[in-house]
Order: sequence, then structure tokens, then C-alpha cells
Amino acid sequence: MKKILSVLLAAMMVVSLAACGQKAATGAQGGAAGAKTVKVGVCIYKFDDAFMTLYRNELDKYFKSKSNADVTYEVTIMDGKNDQAEQTNQIDNFIVQNYDVLILNLVQSSGAATIMQKCKDANIPVVFINREPSEADMSANNTGDYAGKFTYVGADARQSGKFQGELIADLANKGDLNGDGKLQYVMIEGDPENVDAKYRTQFSISQYKDKAGLEVDQLLDQVGMWDRAKGQQIAQDALTQFGDQIEVIFCNNDDMALGAKASIEAAGRKVGENIYLVGVDALAEAVQAVMDGAMTGTVLNDHVGQSHTAVDCAIDAVNGKSLSLYNWVDYVKVTPENASQYK
Ligand code: GAL
Repeated sequence: MKKILSVLLAAMMVVSLAACGQKAATGAQGGAAGAKTVKVGVCIYKFDDAFMTLYRNELDKYFKSKSNADVTYEVTIMDGKNDQAEQTNQIDNFIVQNYDVLILNLVQSSGAATIMQKCKDANIPVVFINREPSEADMSANNTGDYAGKFTYVGADARQSGKFQGELIADLANKGDLNGDGKLQYVMIEGDPENVDAKYRTQFSISQYKDKAGLEVDQLLDQVGMWDRAKGQQIAQDALTQFGDQIEVIFCNNDDMALGAKASIEAAGRKVGENIYLVGVDALAEAVQAVMDGAMTGTVLNDHVGQSHTAVDCAIDAVNGKSLSLYNWVDYVKVTPENASQYK
């Protein structure tokens, strides 16, 4: 009996020890306790921007989906408040705190050379997004040990401009409402320091001329800094000054186009009947306006594709993979025919 008892006792101890061991192992796997932490620093040029808000939320969400039992991505997102000095401080802080990788949406693309040098000295990989640094800055740093440690992820703004030009050139009347063989237009520009603004302004018109085979008459070209209220004000002033002469309002983005739409409606004009209006980004509200006939068209600026590519590049860089210098994501033309797909 004594023997049986001692065997039983010994067996119970083994079982409880095994259970303990198992418990410890589960803790390490189930929680993030044993996971490696990767510190990701993200700088957005300003939080108060409709498109970049969609972009940064998707970036954060996608990073979260990539965390697992082995690795946790600790993402810190900073608001540059449209101030390069402030943003440079934020980047300096990330560097001092030894962040593993940075994702940078610069306030001023012209600041790229200085920022790249800092990151290069600290040997921290960088994914530039949305505001393309100059080709000269990109290639000058793509040498030696830092080659393959940084990249630009974005969309080719020339393509979005061309699509805007085509949205008007492909109309039955080519946008020439008064039939004088010329397109009278107003251009509302984003931040002029930004290549997106520069190329959209330039290529919308050159592509229009090529495809429509007509000349153009620029009535007004003003900077609205990507901002809805500014777009609305510029459109309102233009409608007061030029009235029925305006055939098209080209806006470098949708937020400004939505502002222009409000002014067009307030002036009693009707998109598709006596004026045309195009934007870029495919914000939900703009896509709805295209479906309702309140905007002529827009261009999808794929924030999902761009943010996912940026995250994938950042993770590759952390894992020591070499990055290609550029990663492009396509724009898509959004018309009343296909708009429902982009809602
Ligand atoms: C553009 C976008 C704009 C604005 C800008 C900021 O690509 O179309 O709406 O977000 O980036 O740099």
C-alpha cells in the first residue's frame, strides 16, 4: 500500500511539473513577452490632410496585422504640422532613440538631402512616402553601405495629371462648352513645392491638348494647398470674376475639388451641363459626387496599395533585405461608369 501511494505521489508530481512547464511555454508563445520589438517611426507632413489621414490610418492598421508571436511592431506616428523644422526635430528624436526604421512623408521634399544624410550616418533604413525627393538626392545616396537601405514608395504624379486631362478630352464635346475651339479653365493647385502639384498641373493640360487636339485658355491658376476651404474660396472668386467663361475647374486633389463643388452649386452652375470639375484621390465623398454627376471624374490615389507597400518595404529593410530605389503604385481613372467600384 505504501509503495502504491509513493508511486501515485511521484506520478502526481510529474504531472504537475509537466503542467507547469506547459503553462510557461504557452505564456511565452501566447503573449508578446518573448517577441522581438521593432520600433517604427512615422512622420506625416501634417495630420490635417484628408488623403494623408486615410494613408496613415491604413499604415497603422497594416503594421498591426503584421505583428505576431515573434515580432511586435511598435509604431509611433508624428504630426509635422506642415513645419519642416518641427519635423526635422521629430526625426532627430527617432534617431537618438535608435528606431529600427523610419517612414517619412516630408514637409518639404527639398529637405530630403539633409534628412537622408542624418539617417545614413545613423545607418537607419528609410521609406520615403507621398512626397518624392528629387532624383538627384535619391541617386546620390544610393551608394556604398547605404545603397538598398532606402526607397521611395509613391505614385507617378504625371500619370494622375494625364488621367485628369483625359477625363475632359474624352467628353463628347471635349469640355468645349462654348464651341470656340479652346478650353477655358481654372487650375487649383496643391502645395507648389510638391511634385504631385507640379506634375498634375502640367500633365493634365498637356495630355488634354494632345488627346483633344484643342488649344487652352488658362483663366486663373491659384494655390489651394490641398485644402477644401481654400479650394472653395478660389473657385468662388473665379466664378465671380469669370462667370460663364469657365468651362472646367481642374483641382490637384479631391478635397479642393469638393470645396470647388460647393462654390459651383452656390453659383447655380451644374456640373456636366454648364461646367466640368475633376480632382484626384478618390476620397469616398468625391467618388459619390462622380456617381451623382456632381463631379466629372477623379483619379484613384491608392492609399491602401501605397501604405501596404511602404510597410512591406520597412519590414524587408529591418530584415536586412535590399530595397529597390523606387516602388510605384498605379493611379486609376474614376469615371461615372466605374465609380461604384471605388466607393
Ligand atoms: C497628394 C494627394 C493630396 C495630398 C498630398 C500631400 O498625393 O493627392 O491630397 O494629400 O499628396 O502631399
